[in-house]
Amino acid sequence: MAGITDAEFLCKVIPYGFDVVTLGGYSLDERTIEASQKIIERGRKEFHFKIDEVIPHIENEVNLIKKNYPDVRVSANVRSSIPEPIVQASEIEKLDIIEINCHCRQDEIIAIGCGQEMLKRPDLEEYLSYAVDNSKSEVSVKIRANLEGIDTVEIAQKIEDAGADYLHLDAMNPNIFDADWKLLKNVCDNTNIKVIGNNSIDSTEKVQKMYDCGVYGFSIARGVISGSLNFNISDF
Ligand SMILES: Cc1cc2nc3c(=O)[nH]c(=O)nc-3n(C[C@H](O)[C@H](O)[C@H](O)COP(=O)(O)O)c2cc1C
Repeated sequence: MAGITDAEFLCKVIPYGFDVVTLGGYSLDERTIEASQKIIERGRKEFHFKIDEVIPHIENEVNLIKKNYPDVRVSANVRSSIPEPIVQASEIEKLDIIEINCHCRQDEIIAIGCGQEMLKRPDLEEYLSYAVDNSKSEVSVKIRANLEGIDTVEIAQKIEDAGADYLHLDAMNPNIFDADWKLLKNVCDNTNIKVIGNNSIDSTEKVQKMYDCGVYGFSIARGVISGSLNFNISDF
């Protein structure tokens, strides 16, 4: 979560039983960094670094986590208008997963064809294939479900075809605080990629419901920042 999930934050929540944690999101190239600056100027939290400082910063954060929790896998969620900086970030020595952010819906990011707007780009497949083929770490692609004009199952299949290791799916159901379980199952039934199910998890029942849809794993965001998690993740 932009401006929140740094190494210090993640080290505090790992003891709840997480075996993978995600740093970021970080903006990596000139255009996304400029967009981040605008987001900060209107008062929203963001991680914001100069272009030559952002990758060394992420590396430092990864090392802080690994120093304390060597067995926990670390992912970095990143935005970039071009794929080359994604590949550079994937070369961070101890980074396990580079996650391409096709999810952010902040206006400044959408305006430059990044975040969720990536799903509408004609060069999406080319972009993803370049990132997957050249990355040193595993590659995850984070998307938001039910984006207007986008068939989530078709996009999931494209991401699988590009060779990504994980599809991190925010199964957002517009207007209600609950995942779109039907869509999540549909994606799992119609792809072979490892799907990480995400959205509105705040109980063991919901985690079970995610696994019943066929996910490989699950992730939690707001339940972690609100401090309301009342179960041990490692029970799953
Ligand atoms: C304050 C905030 C910042 C977020 N920043 C990011 C981000 O930088 N990258 C990303 O992929 N998702 C981001 N998200 C989305 C969450 O990771 C997650 O997909 C979403 O909140 C749904 O999951 P949840 O119901 O467990 O919160 C953010 C969410 C919140 C609330």
